[in-house]
Amino acid sequence: MPEMSEEKVAAVEGSSLAQINDIDIDDVIDYVHKDLKRLPGYLDLYRRYLRQRWDVFDIDFTRDVRDWSESMTQEERDAFVAISSGFHHGERQVEVELPVFMLGGSEESRIYMSSQIEDEARHTVFFDRFYREVVGLPGDSVQEVLDASFEHVSETFVGPFGLLAYQADELRADPDDLAARVRYGTTYFLWIEGVLALSVMKITLSYCRNRGFLPGYYAGFTATCRDEARHVQFGMRFLREAVQQDPRMLQEIHETLRTILMINGATSRRVMLEALGWSQEEVRRLMIRQLTMKLTDVGIGLPPDLERMISGIQPELAGG
Ligand SMILES: [Fe+2]
Ligand SMILES: [Fe+2]
Repeated sequence: MPEMSEEKVAAVEGSSLAQINDIDIDDVIDYVHKDLKRLPGYLDLYRRYLRQRWDVFDIDFTRDVRDWSESMTQEERDAFVAISSGFHHGERQVEVELPVFMLGGSEESRIYMSSQIEDEARHTVFFDRFYREVVGLPGDSVQEVLDASFEHVSETFVGPFGLLAYQADELRADPDDLAARVRYGTTYFLWIEGVLALSVMKITLSYCRNRGFLPGYYAGFTATCRDEARHVQFGMRFLREAVQQDPRMLQEIHETLRTILMINGATSRRVMLEALGWSQEEVRRLMIRQLTMKLTDVGIGLPPDLERMISGIQPELAGG
């Protein structure tokens, strides 16, 4: 991948919420990968969080409401809701399942983790506002709006989110068990955030940008993607350090990836991606690229059976 220019990095890093509509989503995705070879320390990422934190109540959805009802077709709305509902539920799940990961690890890791939990809570509120104010789903509480969007979810939650719930339970028994942390980290930081979330971001945000629709969603979700850059960098650093500390952890990463790839594509219905300008094959290739780029940059090698499984990845759309 060509190096990002200094100006682009500065624009992605320093944009306020009001300036973020000028940022191209591809630059934010490049930014996720920019530091993977070097990988910033946990306190550097915490410091970046303090600078980049945004106020979810500052997002203005006025134009989005108009675009949603007047400019978008029913097909586009259906595809959009099918893709973003996995995120709506995914954000909530990780917000409540990250605290167990925060209990283990170094003090630096815990301090950083407090910021990621706050990010995920803010992302949950972002989707709550979007579904309430733009999609128009009913509900007095956050839970009621989640219940109202559940019928649109194509992710079955038997997949990576079910696996993560199981791994969080396992970690609860001993939050300092390194192998359990690595299994959890592979599912969450590498697959759910590094592959699924970034793919959904690329699909929905490039749709918004190409069509000039939904500026409130674009601002909030691009800021969310910048938060994800920190989450993925934390996760890749954690996995790399775990393998350096104990080479047997590489087996744990491989085993977890085997499980994930075995259940990959277990969705309840096919999302009509074509309405948003994407083919199934393009999404497959996007996911494969997101995964292999991270593994290569961080120096996690793969045995041939896993290479084969990766080349057979099927579209799956959720995130957190
Ligand atoms: Fe995240
Ligand atoms: Fe998130």
